[in-house]
Amino acid sequence: MCGIFGYTGHKEAQKLVIQGLKRLEYRGYDSSGLAVQDGFQALLVEKTSGKIKNLEALLHRRPLKGRTAIGHTRWATHGVPSRENAHPHLDNGGEIAVVHNGIIENHFDLKETLKAEGAVFRSETDTEVIVHLLAKYYKGNLENALRRSLKDLKGTYAIAAICSKEPGKLVGARRDSPLVVGLGKKENFLASDVSAIVEHTDRVMFLENGEMAVVTKDSARVVDGAGRPVGRKAVKVDWDITQAKKGGYPHFMLKEIFEQPGILTAVLRERLHGAKIRFDELKIAPRAFRKVKRIVIIACGTAYHAGLTAKYVLEELTDIPVWVDTSSEFRYRNPKLGKGTLVIAVSQSGETADTLAGLREAKAKGALTLSVCNVLGSSLSREAQGVLYTHAGPEIAVASTKAYTAQLAVLYLLAFYLAGLFNSLPQKKRKELLREFSRVPFLMQKTLDQYREDEKEWAEKARDFNARYHAQLEKYFSTDPEKRKRSPNGFFLYLGRNINYPNALEGALKLKEISYIPAEGYPAGEMKHGPIALIDENPWVICLAPQSRTYDKMISNIQEIKARGGIVIPIVSEGDSEIHKLQPFYLIRVPKVRELFSPFLTVLPLQLIAYCVAREFGEDIDQPRNLAKSVTVE
Ligand code: F6R
Repeated sequence: MCGIFGYTGHKEAQKLVIQGLKRLEYRGYDSSGLAVQDGFQALLVEKTSGKIKNLEALLHRRPLKGRTAIGHTRWATHGVPSRENAHPHLDNGGEIAVVHNGIIENHFDLKETLKAEGAVFRSETDTEVIVHLLAKYYKGNLENALRRSLKDLKGTYAIAAICSKEPGKLVGARRDSPLVVGLGKKENFLASDVSAIVEHTDRVMFLENGEMAVVTKDSARVVDGAGRPVGRKAVKVDWDITQAKKGGYPHFMLKEIFEQPGILTAVLRERLHGAKIRFDELKIAPRAFRKVKRIVIIACGTAYHAGLTAKYVLEELTDIPVWVDTSSEFRYRNPKLGKGTLVIAVSQSGETADTLAGLREAKAKGALTLSVCNVLGSSLSREAQGVLYTHAGPEIAVASTKAYTAQLAVLYLLAFYLAGLFNSLPQKKRKELLREFSRVPFLMQKTLDQYREDEKEWAEKARDFNARYHAQLEKYFSTDPEKRKRSPNGFFLYLGRNINYPNALEGALKLKEISYIPAEGYPAGEMKHGPIALIDENPWVICLAPQSRTYDKMISNIQEIKARGGIVIPIVSEGDSEIHKLQPFYLIRVPKVRELFSPFLTVLPLQLIAYCVAREFGEDIDQPRNLAKSVTVE
C-alpha cells in the first residue's frame, strides 16, 4: 500500500524518482507526486491523480530541477484519489515535504490540535498531520523534528521527508511499513522495497521498527528512537533488474506465468541435493522442529491458497496435523497455540498487515514461528524465528502467479524435510517422490508450450465468453420483461477436489482480480449442497480433473453439470480416457504426473484463463482496479 522513493546524489532527481515510483507502482497507483529541492532554498512539488505516467507527462512539460527529492505512489486509505490528497504534503510555509505509507490512527485528534495552533490543512489524508508536526517541532534540524514528531504518532508508517533549509538531506522512519536505504556511489536512496533500488545499487540497509535513517549523498546513518547509531550492516541483494522488466511480454503477468518452470528449477537446484534438502537460511534447528505436534498456516489471498495446498502435502507426507487460516480471521480469534505448535506465515511481500499481526500473536502465545517469504529482509522474514525464502524474484503484476508456485515449491520441500526428520516416509518412497518432483519444471514447461500452440483457440474461447456474457447482461438489464432474465449468471465456476481444491479457489481469485467477472471456487463434492442451483446454460465451469484418486468422482460432477446444460471446461491429464467422451465445450490437457504434484500443472491453465479473459475484456491486467500488491493496512 503506497510506495515511497527518495533520492539524493549527483544526478537530476526527477528522472530517478519517476523510475523508482514505476517499480513501486504495484504498491498502489491511484495518484502520485514528488517534491524536489532545487538548491535555492525552495521545494518544488508536482502531483496528480491517476497512474505515474500522468505525473511523468506533467513533468515532461514542466521539469523540476534538483538533486534531492522524495516521491510517492498512492493507494488511497483516507481521502479519495485526487491531486490534493496525493503526496508529498507540505507544511504551511512550503519548506518541509513528507511522503508516507501506512495509517496514522490518531490523525483526527492531532489535526484538531494542529489546526488550533495555526496549521492549514489542504487534504483529507491522515498523512498531512505528519508534515505539520514536523513544522511545529522544527528547530533547524529535520532529524530531531522527525524524532520528536514520531512520539505523537499512533499507527503505522514508513516516512520520508526533506526540508528546503537542509539541502541534500533525506530523513526517514519506519513502524510496520517497510523502508530500505540503498547505498550508491555519491548517491543514496530511500525506498519501500529493493525492487525500486536494484538498478542503481545492490547494497541496502533494512530499517527495523522504531528506527530512523538520515541520508545524504555521501553518508547514510540508521539510528534508534533516541538517535543512537544502531550499527546496521549493509547487505547485498541478488535481484536482477532484468527480472523486473517485461522482457518482450505484453504484460508482467504473462511474463511471470512463463517464468514459473525456471523458478521451480532454481528452487529445486538450490535446495534439493539428491534426497537431502538444504534450508541454509532457516535458523530453526532440527531439534526445535522435532518438538512440533501441529502446524498452523496463516496467509492471505493467493498465499492462503498455497497454504491450503500445503496442508494436503504435509498431511500426506507427515503425521503432523495441519490447520490453515486466513490471517485476518486467525488474528481476531483466540487461537489455541503454545508449545508444540509451528505457525507458518506465508507471504510474497512479507509485509501483509494481517499476516504480520497473526505472526506476532503466535509468537506472543509461545508458538514456534516460520515465515515463507519472497521479499528479502521483509518484516515477516525478520520477525519470525525462522525464514525460508521463495526466491521468485520481484513479482510486479498485482495478480500473483510465480510467487504462488515458488511458495508451493518451498512448502512441498518443507513437507519432505519434516517427513525426513520424523521418519514418516519410507526412504525409498521419499526418493521416488523427490525424483518425480525434479521432473515437474519440465512438465510445467510442456504445459506452457502447449498453451503457445493453442493460443489462438484460447483467444477465441475468451471472445466467445465475452459475447455470451454481454448478451446475458443485456437480457438481465433489459427493460423488456419478455427478454429479461431473472439473474445474471454468466460467470465462472471452478471445481476441484482434494489437493486440487485450493487451485479451484486460486483460479477463481485470479479471474475475479483481473477481469472483475464473478467467479466462485468450490470443492466439487459440495456442488450438490447448494451451488448446483447455479447451473444452467450460462456459467462456464472449469473442472480440475487430472489423474487422481478422486477422478471418478469428478466425472460424476461433470456429468451432473452437463445434465443441467452447463458449459464444462475440464483440465485433465494427457491420455485421459473418460472425460473427453463427455464432449466438453473445451478440453485442456496437462502432462501426466502423480496427483501430489498436479497442482503445479493445473494452476498454469487457470492463470492463463484469467489472463486471456481479462485481455479479451480489455482490462488493465498488471494493475487491476482497487488492488495493491502489498497490503500493509488492515
Ligand atoms: C492475489 C494476490 C493477493 C495476495 C495477498 C497476500 O493475486 O496477489 O491475494 O496473495 O494480498 O499477499 P502477500 O503474499 O504479499 O502476503
